[in-house]
Amino acid sequence: MVMAKAGTIDECEEAALPQQQSVAAIYRGYLDGAAPAEMTDQVTGADSALQLAVWSHAVGDRDTAHACAVRAAELDPAREFARLLVRFTAGPGAGDVYDSPAAFQAFIRGGGNIALYEATSAALRRAHRRHSPRRILDIGAGDGLALLPALDDDAPHVDVVEPSADLLTHTRDALRDRGISHQVWNDTVQDFATAHPDRQWDLAQSTFALQSVPPHQRPAILEWLAQHTRTFVLVEFDAPEVPEPLAPDWFGEFLRRVERGVREYAHDRDLVGLGFILPVVLGKFTTTDRTNHEQSIQDWTAQLRAAGFAHVTAHQLHDYWWQPAHAVEAHH
Ligand SMILES: C[S@@+](CC[C@H](N)C(=O)[O-])C[C@H]1O[C@@H](n2cnc3c(N)ncnc32)[C@H](O)[C@@H]1O
Repeated sequence: MVMAKAGTIDECEEAALPQQQSVAAIYRGYLDGAAPAEMTDQVTGADSALQLAVWSHAVGDRDTAHACAVRAAELDPAREFARLLVRFTAGPGAGDVYDSPAAFQAFIRGGGNIALYEATSAALRRAHRRHSPRRILDIGAGDGLALLPALDDDAPHVDVVEPSADLLTHTRDALRDRGISHQVWNDTVQDFATAHPDRQWDLAQSTFALQSVPPHQRPAILEWLAQHTRTFVLVEFDAPEVPEPLAPDWFGEFLRRVERGVREYAHDRDLVGLGFILPVVLGKFTTTDRTNHEQSIQDWTAQLRAAGFAHVTAHQLHDYWWQPAHAVEAHH
């Protein structure tokens, strides 16, 4: 019995070997400056076909991206990421994922996001109770899924900055329906900060939104925050910069995590996968068209200190399929 089991593992390892070799060969081609279309004969299985598809997509070679996605889906019909990538690479590409936000809204209301958002709202609520703010600013509040459950009936005044008009309408309507004093701005935080040099808040917060601000604009936003709020609560993923996302180890792990992520959705898997998960995760491989620019929690805390917050603490909030989410609290 033990022998039979060991034999099965050996067979699997033998089958995996050409896969690993072809993923490594494609990565070497990438490092050596090859074009992805020159590497198609290296594909031996779904992993290498997906690696080539993702690389081709990142450099704008849509034909090779689509052909390789089709190949991956043929080689392993059970791969949901491959099936979705076939559809994604056949289409016109994604627009802003928050401009037509049905996919984003379904995404945050399903799968692992249910527990993640419960933990996020609870962290915000705890911070509100600890600091008893009279004025709160929420940056990039989306449709309020994290913000609204954090507010008690005797909530303080809430200001909201959110560039997606559609998402902002949801938040504004919910605040109005609950009778919570509020003001909303349909703006990016960059434009809002420029337009409001004098306003002050007791507590500012931002959940999964400051990753949308490009890295070179971030220090100025964090400095503006340090000058305009006593306390700042940030919830973000701990996502260290990946120097080479096509490298075999990281890419293999990426495939495993994204497969798990898309499978957390059932009837709305295509909506969520095509409209949110794929455009966001594929952005990891390109320097243009990125919807977000994640970084490690260590970098967030260092940048908050450099911006002028004297005390910055962080703790892990929730282990999520993409990366663990952390709550960071900064104050003077
Ligand atoms: C992942 S969603 C998070 C939304 C909400 N905070 C939540 O936790 O559900 C990112 C949000 O950031 C917003 N956003 C994108 N760029 C922004 C910017 N430059 N300034 C402020 N918000 C931004 C998006 O419109 C979107 O609502």
